[in-house]
Amino acid sequence: MATPAPVTIRRATQADAPAYARIMGDPLVMPTLLQLPYTSEEAWRARLAETLAPGKADLLLVAERPDARGAMEVVGTAGLHPAGPAVRRRHAMHLGISVAGHAQGQGVGSALMQALCDYADRWGHVLRLELTVFVDNDRAIALYQRFGFRHEGVHRGFALRDGAYVDVISMARLHPAPPRIDTALS
Ligand SMILES: CC(C)(COP(=O)(O)OP(=O)(O)OC[C@H]1O[C@@H](n2cnc3c(N)ncnc32)[C@H](O)[C@@H]1OP(=O)(O)O)[C@@H](O)C(=O)NCCC(=O)NCCS
Repeated sequence: MATPAPVTIRRATQADAPAYARIMGDPLVMPTLLQLPYTSEEAWRARLAETLAPGKADLLLVAERPDARGAMEVVGTAGLHPAGPAVRRRHAMHLGISVAGHAQGQGVGSALMQALCDYADRWGHVLRLELTVFVDNDRAIALYQRFGFRHEGVHRGFALRDGAYVDVISMARLHPAPPRIDTALS
């Protein structure tokens, strides 16, 4: 099988609503997130409009690569979202990521994670990245560990997944070397 083309990472726009609906509704993706069945382009267009509004701190990225006909296809989405409105939690953001089933295991998730961590560390002055992941999502847990996330605890019976309550793990990554203002130069 030919090696898949490398992905390009760019900021999401409202025009990506069909791709979000397709990926979030993918049977290899939807159950692993807190999404619900029967998503729609319309719902994602509204959600993207809200999240991408001026002044919002959210970062939404997509990964795209040429499909078999050479047209660009969005194969992954990822985002950072403020952890909440509290001023004292401004250093923390929640991370989400999803790769289309047919593109999983080909480096797309790693490329998106690299982009999110670089943004958090070098531009967004985010000191703490947080997420929750279902306890049996081995691939995602391995990916997060590779990017410096550590287990912080288990939430029991956290969410209903296909008729059963499933535990999630809380994971977080602290900035490996928080930038300082060098007063010696000023
Ligand atoms: C989890 C997810 C984001 C990872 O993205 P991806 O593009 O598949 O990941 P990559 O190809 O970049 O890397 C996957 C790595 O996990 C490894 N891996 C694959 N299956 C694995 C498994 N069952 N257990 C442990 N590691 C596994 C691969 O070998 C690869 O490691 P390598 O780069 O050292 O070879 C993607 O699979 C996905 O979207 N899954 C469904 C949605 C989801 O689970 N989102 C996260 C919810 S918290």
